Amino acid sequence: MAIQRLDALVWLTLTGGGFQRRGGGATGYIQETYLAHLIPQKDQATFDFSVLTSELEEGSNPVEKPSIENSQIKTQHFPWKVSEPQNLDYLSNQDFLDLVEGLEADFEREFVARQVDADQDKVLLVGVMTQEITLLDFEDGLAEITRLVDSAGGQVLQTVRQKRSRPHPQTVVGEGKVQEISLTAQTISANLVVFDRDLSPAQIRNLETQIGIRVVDRTEVILDIFAQRARSSEGQLQVELAQLQYSLPRLRGRGQAMSRQGGGIGTRGPGETKLETERRTIAKRIARLQQEVNQLLAHRFRLRQNRHHHEVPSVAIVGYTNAGKSTLLNLLTNSEVYAADQLFATLDPTTRRLTIQSQVPGEMLSIVLTDTVGFIRELPPALIDAFRATLEEVTDADALLHVVDLSHPAWQSQIRSVMNILTDMPVTPGPALVAFNKIDAVDEETLALAREEFPQAVFISAAKGLGLETLRERLAQLIQYALCLR
Ligand code: GTP
Repeated sequence: MAIQRLDALVWLTLTGGGFQRRGGGATGYIQETYLAHLIPQKDQATFDFSVLTSELEEGSNPVEKPSIENSQIKTQHFPWKVSEPQNLDYLSNQDFLDLVEGLEADFEREFVARQVDADQDKVLLVGVMTQEITLLDFEDGLAEITRLVDSAGGQVLQTVRQKRSRPHPQTVVGEGKVQEISLTAQTISANLVVFDRDLSPAQIRNLETQIGIRVVDRTEVILDIFAQRARSSEGQLQVELAQLQYSLPRLRGRGQAMSRQGGGIGTRGPGETKLETERRTIAKRIARLQQEVNQLLAHRFRLRQNRHHHEVPSVAIVGYTNAGKSTLLNLLTNSEVYAADQLFATLDPTTRRLTIQSQVPGEMLSIVLTDTVGFIRELPPALIDAFRATLEEVTDADALLHVVDLSHPAWQSQIRSVMNILTDMPVTPGPALVAFNKIDAVDEETLALAREEFPQAVFISAAKGLGLETLRERLAQLIQYALCLR
């Protein structure tokens, strides 16, 4: 009923006798009638729909479907209600419109009661664990996408997981799981389904058709955060370019009937002819934005030339998102760059001057320190392309200060992700100093492991101001070394 969006269902049983219908088929007189409808339940969010859908999954054991009889007994466990046997006359005199309106009002009440914040997207998260990743990486990835959704202003109400050898080519998850997602999304009144991976335009189309509400992938969530955070015209330009590049192949008509929560204004799209015109307009805009980004690159290049000309050594602070880069820059340079416990709090590169004691006693060393956009594993290609101007700050710096959040359970894989992004840059970045941050929130064991694996690193707490003297000394050494390489 939920999948087919039925409000109520009437079921008739026959006596089995009576007239023989031509061509066979059910015969007899109507014996009993039942009326079934869905009901809102307070604990619906915990109802495990996989019981109903798992038999459709490949390789899983068939599960006995709950029959009408036993659903009557277990009504309190299932989000539906089946009436006692009714007399047909009684049923045909019922006011169904009244019944449906009453149910809609109940659903609405329950929906509002569960609503935390009307502006927040209510998200059903879907995680797919394939052969290539370990359970730990999978769970870390889910925790990260939950934080990304949170940073984008949404709220993950429930997570659906599936283990598959590889993603289903059309729908990523199996057929039964798609049904489970659809039912769960309706039950918890989610208005958005977020996948923990990237989806092809065709996969998004197939999933939206079957699930009935909007489906977005990881890249779209990240782009959304970037769009909300971009403050400078430079940042906005780069985000718009990334979003258009991403959306062009995904442009589609939204004529598909959506569910109670997902449908309505804003979800109906233009027809195909209009889409074609839109595609051309967007392609033109992309070309124009790309030109503007190129001009930006040239402008930044001139700025850096100027800095080189003045012989001011530059250090770029790089690191995984939320590592504490802005907090460190603020602390070292007494500035007030926005720092928050959110992913991608800062987007625009911020440059500040810092004076430290040089290695030569009594001599001071002046450097420029740049806080860059946070990195993330599998940085979406559309973003890398659009953020070339920002990322070039990194490749052009004399040296890098790589800040790592040691309190994060996945600190090792975060280091690898940052290294991978740096290695993929067209110009090899300068020498790097690794600074393990947030040591105030780290146990002895982790600290010892990091010291063993990275004996050259420094250990700091930007929030508590720990280890800063050593950091300044090591920065001075790094600069001297980098200047020799110039
Ligand atoms: P992005 O802008 O996402 O790239 O983040 P960022 O690397 O600039 O991190 P930011 O400075 O915004 O800090 C992220 C969070 O970590 C904030 O809530 C900080 O208060 C917190 N934080 C930073 N340094 C420390 C630290 O030494 N210890 C602890 N416990 N928290 C810290």
